[in-house]
Parts: sequence; C-alpha cells; structure tokens
Amino acid sequence: MIPKQVKIVEVGPRDGLQNEAQTIALADKVQLIALLAKAGLKNIEAGSFVNPKWVPQMANSEAVFAALPDDGICYSALTPNVKGLERALAAGVQEVAVFAAASEGFSQKNINCSIAESLQRFEGVMTMAKAVGIRVRGYVSCVIACPYDGDTAPDRVLDVSRAMLDMGCYEISLGDTTGVGTPASINRLLDCLLTELPAEQLAVHCHDTYGQAIANIYAALQRGIATIDSSVAGLGGCPYASGASGNVASEDLIYLLNGLGIEHGVDLNKLIVAGNFISKQLGRNNLSRVARALTVA
Ligand code: HMG
Ligand code: MG
Repeated sequence: MIPKQVKIVEVGPRDGLQNEAQTIALADKVQLIALLAKAGLKNIEAGSFVNPKWVPQMANSEAVFAALPDDGICYSALTPNVKGLERALAAGVQEVAVFAAASEGFSQKNINCSIAESLQRFEGVMTMAKAVGIRVRGYVSCVIACPYDGDTAPDRVLDVSRAMLDMGCYEISLGDTTGVGTPASINRLLDCLLTELPAEQLAVHCHDTYGQAIANIYAALQRGIATIDSSVAGLGGCPYASGASGNVASEDLIYLLNGLGIEHGVDLNKLIVAGNFISKQLGRNNLSRVARALTVA
C-alpha cells in the first residue's frame, strides 16, 4: 500500500516566507527557488497573489515569477479569487491553487468570507483557469482542528474537498494548519475521506508545530497518499494561525523517504544547501533536524 514513488510540493518560498516579519530581498527569494530547483524539486510553490495588505511578504510575487526560468519545473502560486488569478496569469504562472477551510472561523480570518462564499468565489477562478488551460490545486485548511472553532469533524473536510474536486481542482492538499494532528487523528480523517475520494487526488500538508508532521506523513503514506507538501528548513506558518510553525522540513521528509526506499528525485545534500542558504539570510538556524545533523560546522 505504501507508494513506491511520491510527488513533493515544496511550499517554502510561499508558505515559508509569507509568515516572515522581516523584509526578504527579491534576489534571495529567487536564489532560494533556484537552489530548490537545483536540488531536484519539480513542484515549487513560488508565490501568492493575495491582497498585499493582508500578506505583505508576498507582494512582490509578480517580480519573483518574472525572474524564474522556463525550465520545465512547475512553479505555482496561490490565487484566492479572480483578481489573484488575473495577476497570476499576467505573471505567466503555470499552475495555481485556491484555498478554502474546513472551519468557518478560519475561513473568515484567512480569506474574509464563509466557506460557502469561498466556494462560490472559486467557481470564477475555475472557469477562468479552465478557459486558459491551467491546472488548479485545492487546499483545505484546518482539517484536524481550527484555532478559532476547535476540533474539525472529518465529514466537514470531506464536504469541502468533494466540492472543490467537483468544481475541477485536480487534487486536494489537506492542511493540518496548526500541526495538532497525530497519526490517530490523521487516520480518522483518512478513514472518512478515502470512503469517497481516491488517494491519488489527496495530498498532505502537515505543519510541524507539535513535532508530529513526520509521524503524520508516515501514517498518510501507509494509506496510499503519494503527494506530500514540505517546506525547506521548516520555514513558515500561517499569518492567520497564530503560533503555528512551519511545514514539515523538506530535508526531514527526504530523510524519511530515503529510509523507506521511496523514490522522490531530490538530492538531500543540495536541499540542505538551499535550506542553509535561506536560514542564513533570515539570520536563524536551519529548523530541519536532518539538515543540522548533516551540516558540518
Ligand atoms: P477582501 O478584503 O475581502 O477582498 O479580501 P475584497 O474583494 O473586498 O477587496 C478588498 C481590496 O483588496 C480591494 O482593494 C481589492 O482590489 C483588493 P481596494 O479597493 O481596497 O484598494 N484585492 C486584491 N489585491 C490583490 N490581489 C488580490 C486581491 N483581491 C482583492 N488577489 C482576500 C479577500 C481573499 C483577497 C484576502 O482575504 C486575502 O488576500 N487573503 C489571503 C490570506 C492569505 O494569504 N493567507 C495565507 C495563505 S493560506 C495558508 O497559508 C494555508 C495553507 O498553507 C494551507 C494550510 O496550512 O492549512 C494554504
Ligand atoms: Mg500551510
């Protein structure tokens, strides 16, 4: 049941950097993305076309995309609405993602509307994306719990995921936004989702706030999930989930996959170079334990 090969979606340049208080030079963002590509990552979420007043760190996403090479790598971006998609298309983005939540509290705080309103907004994005032939990924946040509403019932996640797949998203990334999940709650969620949705259309997006992300990913792999999001150097968090730390560190994920003999196409040493580069630019230690263990002082 455990997949032989996985797709990794590197979200560090977006999920990672969106949460930084300090200004990050455009050149550093572009250099980070180049190093990630050099490490073998084929899917890199490079920016976000959201309201810059809400997430100032992503305000220069147009400039980031303008600096990216046309090298066969899928560089994607978040687009919360038609305006975001228009910006993304003008910037030449090849794949976008819409993002909903499984809890009303987080939906309101993150995208300023109810879940139902967000799904309605996405219809416009899907229609335009279909017309121009670009793929749309869907995120569902707070699949285990919400910082505002408490525990999330798995069938709420199923409802939102099904609605987004029905409107044309090719895959749903299940966000444990606050990182509170454990293999038990991830399994309960997947027990519910996999009754109706194919594992091939699901991805996991595990924030590592409670140190459970690797265990949660292992649980998901055992259920046949073969797409995993991760963030180099464990960068990030969500500005609307206070206290939540970054996604699982990509370096830690690669170490896990290597140990399990699962193919992923990424060179761990080169990935560590990327993680150490951005950590240095941000003036902090690399949050990946694997990177720290393998970095010679
Ligand atoms: P709103 O204020 O309700 O939007 O925000 P509005 O339609 O009422 O427009 C208000 C103003 O925003 C207008 O400008 C619009 O033009 C502008 P004004 O007339 O006041 O000058 N505007 C935009 N500008 C640029 N790009 C746009 C855009 N849209 C409107 N796309 C909105 C609604 C969704 C835009 C806002 O709430 C927003 O930007 N939210 C994004 C929040 C965000 O980025 N959160 C982090 C990413 S999600 C995440 O991290 C979770 C994830 O990782 C999964 C997980 O971990 O669970 C994906
Ligand atoms: Mg996230």
